[in-house]
Order: sequence, then C-alpha cells, then structure tokens
Amino acid sequence: EEFGDLVAALPRRQQSILELRLYQGFWLPEHWVPGTVVFQRRFSPRPDDVVLASYPKCGTTWLKALAFAAAARGAYPPAAPGHPLRRLNPHDCVPFIDEIFAGGEEAKLDALPSPRLMNTHLPYTLLPDRVTNAGGCRVVYVCRDPKDMVVSLWHFLRRAKPDLSFVETFESVCDGTVAAGPVWDHVLSYWRPSVARPDRVLFLKYEDLLRDTAANVRRLAEFMGRPFTAAEEAAGDVAAVVELCSFDEMKGLDVNKAGSGTAGRYCAMQRDAFFRKGVAGDWANHMTPEMAARLDGIIREKLQGTGLDFAQGS
Ligand code: A3P
Repeated sequence: EEFGDLVAALPRRQQSILELRLYQGFWLPEHWVPGTVVFQRRFSPRPDDVVLASYPKCGTTWLKALAFAAAARGAYPPAAPGHPLRRLNPHDCVPFIDEIFAGGEEAKLDALPSPRLMNTHLPYTLLPDRVTNAGGCRVVYVCRDPKDMVVSLWHFLRRAKPDLSFVETFESVCDGTVAAGPVWDHVLSYWRPSVARPDRVLFLKYEDLLRDTAANVRRLAEFMGRPFTAAEEAAGDVAAVVELCSFDEMKGLDVNKAGSGTAGRYCAMQRDAFFRKGVAGDWANHMTPEMAARLDGIIREKLQGTGLDFAQGS
C-alpha cells in the first residue's frame, strides 16, 4: 500500500499476462516494483555474497544449479548421492532476491550462512548502490541469444495463457515492452561493468555454457573465490558438477516433473516449466527468416560499438 502512489505514477503497458510499469528505464511487471524499491533501499550485501543475475529465460535455473554446486562443494561433494540438487529444484537452493523483498521476507536472507548465493532478474542499474559500488559484492550474469529467449519465453507464458501467439511475444520483445525489458539494455547494463571490472562482474553466455560447461564451471568457481584444487580436478569434481546440473539430470528429477508444485510464490509456475528443451538454435523452428533477421538487426544496432556480440562465443 505504501507504494500505491509510486506505482500509479509510472507509465503502464499491458503485455500478454502482465501489467508492466516503466521503472528507472525498464518495464517491470507491476508486482515487482514495490519489492524492487525495498531491495534498493534496504539490501545490505556481505563482501562475499554472490548475486546471480539474468534476463528471464536465459539460463537462470542452470546458472543457479552450477553456482550452487560449485560454491557448496565443501558441504556437499558434487558426486555424493545425497546432494541437495538431486532432490531439490535449483530455485529452492538459491533464493530469488526480488521475491524475498516483495514478500517482506528479508529475514530469510539474513539467516543464510556466508557466502550467500542469491539471484535477481533486475538490470545492473537497478541493483542497490551498496551492491554495485566499490565495497559491494560479486555479480555473475548469464545472457542468451535473444531469439532463443523469445522462444523460451513464449513457451513459458503460454502455460498461463494458452492462446498467446508467438508473434505477439516476438513483437513485445522487439519493442522492449516485456518483463525486465528492453532485453538489450538489460544485457548491456551487465556487459559494461563486466568489461570495466571483471573481478566484480562475470559475464557468461548460455551458448558458451552449452559448448563447454566444464570450462565455465571452472571460471565460475574461480570468480567466486573457490577455484578447483588439483586434488578436486583429479577426483573429477568438475565433471561431477557438470553432470549433476545437466539438463537431462535435472529434468528427470521427480521434483521437476509436471505436478510437483510451483517454483515460488512470485512466479507461480510449475517447476517443470523451467526445463523445456535446453538447446541453442530452437528459434529456427519458430521464426521466419525475416523475423530472425529483424531481431538480429535490432540487437546488432543496439550493441554496436560495445564489443558484445551474440553471434560469437567469448
Ligand atoms: P528452453 O525453453 O529454450 O528449453 P530460465 O532458467 O532463465 O527460466 O531459462 C530457462 C531455459 O533454460 C529453458 O530453455 C530451459 O530448458 C533451459 N535450461 C534449464 N535448465 C537447463 C540445464 N540444466 N541445461 C541447459 N539448459 C537448461
């Protein structure tokens, strides 16, 4: 209620199932705004916190699993049969900051032991200054070819609105009026600090994760301050993390099957919705060549001169 006036004053657009509000340059679902404001005002990071950030449908679930498995490997060896990721969805292992603040559940974050792992869908520019300033914490971002993001998003939204057309979803991504959009501004908001301060912001690509998961697990562990030791390498721990978090492993878990319940209050979607196909290039099955060229053209123009290119691996 405290935020009613603030929200009402923001520009508004309807996009498929969501009411969007333009907040600090990004279209946020209306129900994200109060939690975002509270997060900005009150979140106090610890120096060893790691915030996992992503645009929705770009590999959030996978990044959460990989980072959790890499970070928690002291307590839970990745090959151990009792590993939490063999019975829990990654969203139940790494809290979603945006949801925590929207629900007034900050005590849950305070109670987490260090080093804490959390995730957000907010762009870098909307993160609290206390996260992004010199004394803040580390941030890992995962991006994905926007063409595959659109396809993934459409399948996801269609679960709530079965008659949603692919074209409508595509058009809303192209004009930026989509949750946490425009996507190019979201990606660039993380790309720039990752170039300026690579020790603080690690920028990953979903396609690179697919191509060489092990190399990226090593990068992730090193960035989080816990590089794999020679003994861990020799024991095959990197490969064990890769296997534990693989698409087939995770999709096959009972907890991730249809009817197993929702992934959270904030996103009342069944957990199986986070495991669809898990590949790169599925856009070719949904878009005409003209649509693909149009979205590629928009992205190319927006990214021009930034050094970031979706067409190339890093
Ligand atoms: P698709 O819909 O293209 O299959 P998010 O987690 O950000 O919501 O992203 C979901 C996308 O990541 C979905 O893409 C999903 O299938 C894919 N995904 C989930 N877990 C994965 C894994 N372990 N490996 C590869 N892709 C995964």
